[in-house]
Amino acid sequence: MLQHVAIIMDGNGRWARERNLPRREGHLKGVENVEKIVRKTGALGIKYLTLYAFSADNWKRPASEVSDLMSLLETFLVKQSAMLHENKIRLHTIGRIEELNQKVYQILSRIQQETSIYQDFHLILALNYGSRNEVLDAVGRYAKAVQRGIEGISQLSWTTFRKYLSTGYFPDPELVIRTSGEHRISNFLLLQSAYAEYYFSPVYWPDFGPDCLESAIEDYYKRERRFGMTGDQIRQERTAPINSNL
Ligand code: FPP
Repeated sequence: MLQHVAIIMDGNGRWARERNLPRREGHLKGVENVEKIVRKTGALGIKYLTLYAFSADNWKRPASEVSDLMSLLETFLVKQSAMLHENKIRLHTIGRIEELNQKVYQILSRIQQETSIYQDFHLILALNYGSRNEVLDAVGRYAKAVQRGIEGISQLSWTTFRKYLSTGYFPDPELVIRTSGEHRISNFLLLQSAYAEYYFSPVYWPDFGPDCLESAIEDYYKRERRFGMTGDQIRQERTAPINSNL
């Protein structure tokens, strides 16, 4: 069962350029699409949705665009907080959100706190996020835990370490989608997507509607995930009776 879908929402700028519109209009349409995709993901019974909304490298964009993105994010959060409650969606963030502007940081913190009562559907916004920073932060936290005697160096394993990543207790995404025809990972969930299936869509994010999400999921279910095993082994596992070792 597909539990966690992660999306690199790309192509807002090109969507706008092709229509002779300012880039802000592309981002605005992109934000409108976020709500549609959140609703669709919930309706499909997928429990975790991670959206790459602002990367740690996006600060390099012109200041006016960064400011547009922040104000769109703020408006989105204020407008959608009722929708999150109505649909019992828990909001999480990954990334160094304390470096965002204070107002956005406070709104994010408040909504995360208020929605922490919900368990069935988790919306995770990656904001000021980059996998390499995340790994450095996790290593720092792990080292402190070792100093305090909470963790040991000899017990270091993926299972103990993964809890220190910002995605700590979320399952790894099984499906990572990137829109807009680009075939890059852009420092997104590098460790968590070690066994994920990638789906690259040529459609720009503002046009990547619920039907496109459904196509991506259909495609995912057609694939054979082998986790290092052979196809024969996987098929045997699927057909073996659950208590075959009894
Ligand atoms: C990529 O398009 C998109 C982004 C850098 C940001 C994505 C942000 C949103 C959809 C809006 C904010 C999100 C939320 C959750 C409110 P691009 O600008 O790189 O497009 P281009 O590659 O065509 O120029």
